[in-house]
Amino acid sequence: MTQHTPRDPVIAIDGPSGAGKGSVSRAIAKALGCRYVDTGAMYRAVAWMATHEGLALDDEPALAALAERVELTLDDQTVLVEGHDVTRAIRTAEIDAAAARVARMPAVREVLVRRQRAYAAAGGLVMLVMEGRDIGTTVFPAAQVKIYLDASSQERAARRASDPAHGLGGATSVLSDVASALEARDHSDRTRKSSPLTMAADAVRVDTTGMPLEGVVEQVLDIVRDRLAARFRA
Ligand code: DC
Repeated sequence: MTQHTPRDPVIAIDGPSGAGKGSVSRAIAKALGCRYVDTGAMYRAVAWMATHEGLALDDEPALAALAERVELTLDDQTVLVEGHDVTRAIRTAEIDAAAARVARMPAVREVLVRRQRAYAAAGGLVMLVMEGRDIGTTVFPAAQVKIYLDASSQERAARRASDPAHGLGGATSVLSDVASALEARDHSDRTRKSSPLTMAADAVRVDTTGMPLEGVVEQVLDIVRDRLAARFRA
């Protein structure tokens, strides 16, 4: 008899900054009618609240306690911290850097990973699309589907520079500045000790360089359908 490993009803979407995770994950969740959770927004919200409360960004125990108590409300459009809309405020260059610092701390990650797992528990058997850096490796190693979105570093920087959600001012932002900030943050994400950004062995890598959003969404939806069908056959 085949041994069935229980799988979490999660579509894990990981990858570096600017690979298109946000737009793709939202579109996938919409197409499949499932909930979308942006875990990067959770690290950003903790960093924003820490700055707001004047906490030192190297005080790991205080930041972990903050991650535990802070009230977060996430949907596919907005991020609320203690009921306050921070959707735009968490996407500044200052919070980019602060969130990367906060995300290096094992004590903060432990709290947020627990909170991320609770979203799946709350949803029961309903599928969840969760976006981040360590979803397929650490948060849900038994996710039903794992996608690793990537793109060339030039393209990721160009996308980030023209993304109005990041408040960079489109054409006025200097591409080389965006590219070096992105590179620094990627380096921090890939080299940190606790859950560094890596591709899970059983993830499917999708290189989005030069691809329009609709093409990426179609390709990811095909992978999701294939994977889910294969699981039912197993
Ligand atoms: O995806 P993003 O740029 O909004 O993420 C903000 C920061 O949080 C970034 O430095 C990567 C980090 N992050 C992480 O370490 N683990 C996650 N699951 C999601 C984001």
